[in-house]
Amino acid sequence: MSTEAICWINNKIIPLKDATISVMDHGLLYGDGVFEGIRFYNNKAFLLEAHIKRLNASAKALALKLPKSINELTALVTALVNAYQNESGYIRLIVTRGKGPLGINPALCQEPELIIIASPLSMSDEQAQTEGIRTITASTRRIPADCLDPRIKSLNYLNAILAKIEANNAGVQEAIMLNQQGYVTEGSVDNIFIVSDGELYTTPSIDGSLAGITRQQILKLANESGIKTHIETLAVYDIYAADECFLTGTGAELIPVNEVDGRKYANCPGDIFKQLKALYKESCYN
Ligand SMILES: Cc1ncc(COP(=O)(O)O)c(C=O)c1O
Repeated sequence: MSTEAICWINNKIIPLKDATISVMDHGLLYGDGVFEGIRFYNNKAFLLEAHIKRLNASAKALALKLPKSINELTALVTALVNAYQNESGYIRLIVTRGKGPLGINPALCQEPELIIIASPLSMSDEQAQTEGIRTITASTRRIPADCLDPRIKSLNYLNAILAKIEANNAGVQEAIMLNQQGYVTEGSVDNIFIVSDGELYTTPSIDGSLAGITRQQILKLANESGIKTHIETLAVYDIYAADECFLTGTGAELIPVNEVDGRKYANCPGDIFKQLKALYKESCYN
């Protein structure tokens, strides 16, 4: 069965390889736009309502008018999932400011561009799941919320890319980013959790992280199964001293961390990680 990626663009579904946008699109020229990464399992987009809600909120924060209503976007994503040949995969939903003259002024852009891609899942790294990944704390600090709110899921990822370059140069898989006060925010493209004395901790968005939808789902599943959860400011010390650490995101789901700045976790993947991963996988198919 072909798993060739497909794309909804200009009111039709075409093979992704044939999809193009203008070189004058401000998404390309200035990173002016918003997006969502969504997984589908068993032909159903997972937590779709939450993703569309966050897209809408990101667009509102950027004064970017979505070219379709929330109901229409939901229907389009659902139609693309149905048109795709695999029952599981990944959706990338993108709204750019659209074409405009050179110069950043969004007011001069004609119409926002809507692009929805359905593509195969990149295979999750089995070794990462069984052994965990190595991480560092990056020297690149998260852009402060009063400069660019981290809750806006925009097309500009340069801040995270700088941290990822640090991880690459250090020969580890992921970088944990701190805010300007030195408190923990998140990974370059994932939220962070730690486990201490059997309780689960993650950082508040206001400290500098995306309001992750996987993170929200993990908190819900943990609460339902009686694991005490905390959303609170974390210092690097808390990460070092924790019993377990893991990252979450739509694409990667849950990834255990086995090392931060050379400090290794004795239990990786830890018991709480394993419990939450099983619950999460189950929830993806319900
Ligand atoms: C910066 C950042 N943090 C966290 C996440 C995880 O968010 P979600 O669970 O909604 O995919 C992402 C996902 O792309 C991200 O880009």
